[in-house]
Amino acid sequence: MAKICVIGTGYVGLVTGTCFSDMGHRVTCLDINEKRIEKLNNGIMPIYEPGLKQIVDQNVDAGRLNFTTSYQEALKDAEFAFIAVGTPSSVDGDADMQYVKMAAETIASHLDHPIIIVNKSTVPVGTGDWVSEIIKDMNGGTTPPFCVVSNPEFLREGSAVNDFMEPDRVVLGSTNREAAEKVADLYEALRAPIMITDLRTAEMIKYASNAFLATRISFINEIANICESLGADVKEVARGMGMDKRIGPSFLDAGLGWGGSCFPKDVKALAHMAETRGSHPQLLQAVMDINQNQRKRAVQKVEKALGGLKGKTIGLLGLSFKPNTDDTRDAPALDIARMLLESGAVVQAFDPQAMEVSKKEIPQLQLRKNPYETAEAVDALILATEWNEFKSLDFERIKANMKGNVILDGRNIWDGTELYEMGFTYFGMGVPQPGE
Ligand code: NAD
Ligand code: UGA
Repeated sequence: MAKICVIGTGYVGLVTGTCFSDMGHRVTCLDINEKRIEKLNNGIMPIYEPGLKQIVDQNVDAGRLNFTTSYQEALKDAEFAFIAVGTPSSVDGDADMQYVKMAAETIASHLDHPIIIVNKSTVPVGTGDWVSEIIKDMNGGTTPPFCVVSNPEFLREGSAVNDFMEPDRVVLGSTNREAAEKVADLYEALRAPIMITDLRTAEMIKYASNAFLATRISFINEIANICESLGADVKEVARGMGMDKRIGPSFLDAGLGWGGSCFPKDVKALAHMAETRGSHPQLLQAVMDINQNQRKRAVQKVEKALGGLKGKTIGLLGLSFKPNTDDTRDAPALDIARMLLESGAVVQAFDPQAMEVSKKEIPQLQLRKNPYETAEAVDALILATEWNEFKSLDFERIKANMKGNVILDGRNIWDGTELYEMGFTYFGMGVPQPGE
């Protein structure tokens, strides 16, 4: 069994380290965020990810998993160092590489034995070579032997542990086949298809995959908008399309579009990479424009139905960028809340996991304890994130609580006809409006 150090204990690093320890490897997870490590050492998860706490606890108890802020301690005897730090968007739209740079430099300054450095962060094409240069340069030619392998991660928040443990594929890229094979061995227990390729191709596979998934969603949202103008139902259209094996059913849910910590920054970064190399990424640009527009369309629908937003009270169900996570990075819900507030509305909101962080971002949000309180005295209710607990609400109670009767179902999860028959004015995204 291998000795692994994982740098960064966010959604990817913590899940990666924990899952490797669960496969029997000895793992030290490291972060520069002292509070995060203190929490982990006290058995408190710094993020909400279903199922994660239980497997962290099991592996800590088994002595295979521990947490530290010390690079020296984490790298001691480590055969592999996984870099899983953040790569957010910079102001220009390219990936901000300061955390990767810092991690690479700190690894270099502590390196006293041969090691394989594995890039798990989503990084621009060419980063593997850049990290190698950083490490060589730091030590003026005295660095012990090391190799860089790219191993992009494809997990989704909310189902991260399962996605890691049952991947569709493991992608590895390196100029050194032997090093890539050693990383492949770490995954042996998963019995997943493993693809070994060159460094740059592996880095590109990650961006191309995220951009393709984002494209599918923007495509179906464009179809949704066309459906609206022609009286067709995008849910049925997606169902019919998805039955074609060449198309498949996933990532065809129309609605408020994609948010999160990755699609927005990765599509932008890919477009930026293209532009800096003289390509014109027309499709990616359209994919981003359509996505941004969905949020505006949702607000415009409510504005039109209420005859303006100034002085109106709107209830917002869901704040995280998708269900089963507390992550609000680029969440459609928060953008919608901002637009409503800017138009003079009052916004009261509820989310099962993302209230505190949302309030920090938008202090004017008035937080409520449950969906029914969120509907209290509102002119309109907007569903922004399709948490399971929002799927079968008591709409008689909602109706009795609301002042108005407008519902915008931003994720098409409710039965519009049923709600219309109860007296609501129902709007979905790309579905026929009952009663029209
Ligand atoms: P995150 O922001 O949740 O966590 C990053 C962690 O790295 C933070 O805890 C931070 O303190 C730590 N860190 C920053 N600099 C450090 C340093 N020099 N040394 C040690 N720790 C440091 O990020 P995330 O969502 O886990 O994403 C990490 C990377 O994985 C990104 O490149 C992202 O694009 C990619 N990715 C994310 C997901 C996802 O679902 N979140 C999925 C696949 C890939
Ligand atoms: C996404 C990818 O699915 C992962 O493979 C990838 O590893 C990850 O990004 C990453 O690189 O970080 P994630 O952002 O966690 O995962 O969540 P998704 O389930 O992909 O959803 C992304 C966004 O698209 C959400 O806002 C969701 O509401 C939206 N979405 C998804 C739709 O609007 N329609 C759909 O049909 C599917």
